Amino acid sequence: MVIGIDIGSTTTKVAAVNSGKKGIIMVRTKAFDAITSATGAFGKLLVENNLNLANIEKINITGVGASRIPGNLFGIATTRIDEMVAIGTGGKYLAKKDRIIISNIGTGTAIIQVDGSAITHLGGTGVGGGTITGLARQLLNISDFDTIMNYAAKGNINNIDLQIGDIAEGNIGFLNREYTASNFGKMLDTATREDIAAGILNLTYQVIGMVSVFAARSKNNDTVVVTGNGSNNILGQKILASISSMYNIQFEFPANAEFATAIGAAQS
Ligand SMILES: Nc1ncnc2c1ncn2[C@@H]1O[C@H](COP(=O)(O)OP(=O)(O)OP(=O)(O)O)[C@@H](O)[C@H]1O
Ligand SMILES: [Mg+2]
Repeated sequence: MVIGIDIGSTTTKVAAVNSGKKGIIMVRTKAFDAITSATGAFGKLLVENNLNLANIEKINITGVGASRIPGNLFGIATTRIDEMVAIGTGGKYLAKKDRIIISNIGTGTAIIQVDGSAITHLGGTGVGGGTITGLARQLLNISDFDTIMNYAAKGNINNIDLQIGDIAEGNIGFLNREYTASNFGKMLDTATREDIAAGILNLTYQVIGMVSVFAARSKNNDTVVVTGNGSNNILGQKILASISSMYNIQFEFPANAEFATAIGAAQS
């Protein structure tokens, strides 16, 4: 069995591949320091699944925290894997396609091109999950992610964003009336906390969506596979779907996308 450990900026994810009947096993923990979160998540995986240390051939670690783990973990051969290679490998495996653009929405967002066996880091944006939590903490005094989502689901984006319909009579080219002309560009005095939460979500996913569209187009690709914790976000998926219909780029949200980097590390 091979263990992949992804020590991200916010959370640590662990995946075990070739673990026999169970297929891929996954656990996650909140990152405190790199060593505590990596060993903690690894221990949790072993205990919860009744796995034996003796059956582990090797450990592959990746993510921003990987460089803080010295030597071998628990005497098991431990290799550091380039994070972009891990994202590309895991995204390709989860999407079951080998010519894709991956948009990995973690604390920030990284964009990677997979073309057969070639994996290229194209760039990204600092706008990501950390943007949602940071802005919500300052603007709404809310730190819990689920609470932010509950607020956002009830918000009206039309009270926050300046939309095409606010400034033009009809559509502007392919941009329809409901699309954003300026994120937070309207910001009514009467806007509620729910509206602001919706505005934060819209800002975050529209920026990520557009950066992904431009990356895909520059590589003549029309499939963006979304990985990272930001993939499994219903409101985010809706925002990306609206971009999808305007730009003819498909966004895909594979199951277990949050573990793409850990799974890819284990397979590298
Ligand atoms: N239930 C949740 N609990 C905590 N964070 C969540 C949750 N759902 C979504 N998030 C968002 O996911 C982000 C973390 O995502 P992820 O674990 O993929 O990132 P990471 O790997 O730690 O960071 P990076 O890859 O950028 O180094 C947080 O910034 C947070 O905004
Ligand atoms: Mg990550």
